[in-house]
Amino acid sequence: MAKSKIVASIDIGSSKIRTVVGIQEEGSPVPNIIGVGIAPSTGLRKGAVIDVEETINSISASLEDAERMAGEPINHVFLGVGGNHIASINSKGVIAVSQAENEISEDDVDRVLEAAQAVTIPSNRRILRIIPKTFTVDEQKGIKYPVGMTGIRLEVETHIVTGFEPVIKNLEKCVLQSGVDIDDVIPACLASAEAVLSKRQKELGVVVVDIGCGGTSISVFEDGATLHTAVIPVGGENVTNDVAIGMKTSIDTAEKLKIEYGTTIPEEVNDRETIDLSLISKIDTHHVSKKQVVEIIQARYHEIFVLVKDELAKIHRDEMLPAGVILTGASSKMSGVIDLARETLNLPAQIGFPTNYDGVVDKIDDPAYATVIGLLLWGSRFESRHHSGLKGLNMKKSLSSITKWFKNLVP
Ligand SMILES: Nc1ncnc2c1ncn2[C@@H]1O[C@H](COP(=O)(O)OP(=O)(O)OP(=O)(O)O)[C@@H](O)[C@H]1O
Ligand SMILES: [Mg+2]
Repeated sequence: MAKSKIVASIDIGSSKIRTVVGIQEEGSPVPNIIGVGIAPSTGLRKGAVIDVEETINSISASLEDAERMAGEPINHVFLGVGGNHIASINSKGVIAVSQAENEISEDDVDRVLEAAQAVTIPSNRRILRIIPKTFTVDEQKGIKYPVGMTGIRLEVETHIVTGFEPVIKNLEKCVLQSGVDIDDVIPACLASAEAVLSKRQKELGVVVVDIGCGGTSISVFEDGATLHTAVIPVGGENVTNDVAIGMKTSIDTAEKLKIEYGTTIPEEVNDRETIDLSLISKIDTHHVSKKQVVEIIQARYHEIFVLVKDELAKIHRDEMLPAGVILTGASSKMSGVIDLARETLNLPAQIGFPTNYDGVVDKIDDPAYATVIGLLLWGSRFESRHHSGLKGLNMKKSLSSITKWFKNLVP
């Protein structure tokens, strides 16, 4: 009988903590999802812990919710971290191939990836991922996986994602105190793409834009590899705040106004239409112009897409990605958002629903679950490097799993 194991992931977002748990059968390419949990994210601000006890309670609530549905205890998780402290740089590494007959081995790939880490990264930042983009063997460029090839000089171009160590440590501490061990820490900005993109989209060139609460994270792919990642500090929370200020309502009323009446297409709204706030609030009882609410929402979403466009321009991919923009995160559920993204970015646009998993849990057929499912997929593709305590990542071990994972991606 094929061996199976329980795998789980937790996405600590700034508005919700989402957990999924699945069964990974040996030999099966995707996990079978059997449980989902969600809890409000209290105790955190923009991805950073500001109240340890509240954060532990929120994490525990999300874990228990998923355990209840799955009927299985969760003992360890792949942890996703997001927020404005996540940053990325590109770095090159070069080595001389070690074997006498100059055949490139997995060891050489590990060594060249290690060489790429020799960049100045401040001591208070942790390397979360080193992603090989492309290899060069002697003068031959554009190699995806060099093991088995012959050469003297091996070069790699990598994309390195780092996070602010104190923020990650505090999150890890809260997760461990919630009673689960951490398999690995994965940047949330990389995860969503795993759940929503096909190999073909990654080959053609595509950007995943996850519009969350505290921020918007983007990841760009081309020729099958990660080209760029970035976190923009504007998200759904800013839309809500703008509505609250503009319409002089409480934050709770503004959130309800946004979700129940919001759209990013003001042209569709009648100038004279008003909304009676007493229908959705006990505190706010005045009337507001629907057109004004919608104009405020449209302006903020437009700004988000302009910032995404600026980010693409930095890497010279503005209007240049044939597979377009894929929107994830709960804020992508705003009506009219696809049209606004298409017009502002001048690219094909669609919502990214999670795929690449088995199971019949309806709740996760939702772009808001892309990150947590991506974490599970990413995690279960790596050999489990179960580590408990706050020892941090063992880069040597991590490199060989990167090599294995990278090999999986090669068609
Ligand atoms: N149906 C909806 N339409 C529009 N916006 C929505 C909808 N449902 C939720 N939102 C907004 O989505 C945001 C939360 O998104 P999400 O749950 O993806 O964030 P998160 O993962 O917790 O946070 P982050 O990724 O920023 O750390 C909130 O600002 C909320 O107002
Ligand atoms: Mg999120």
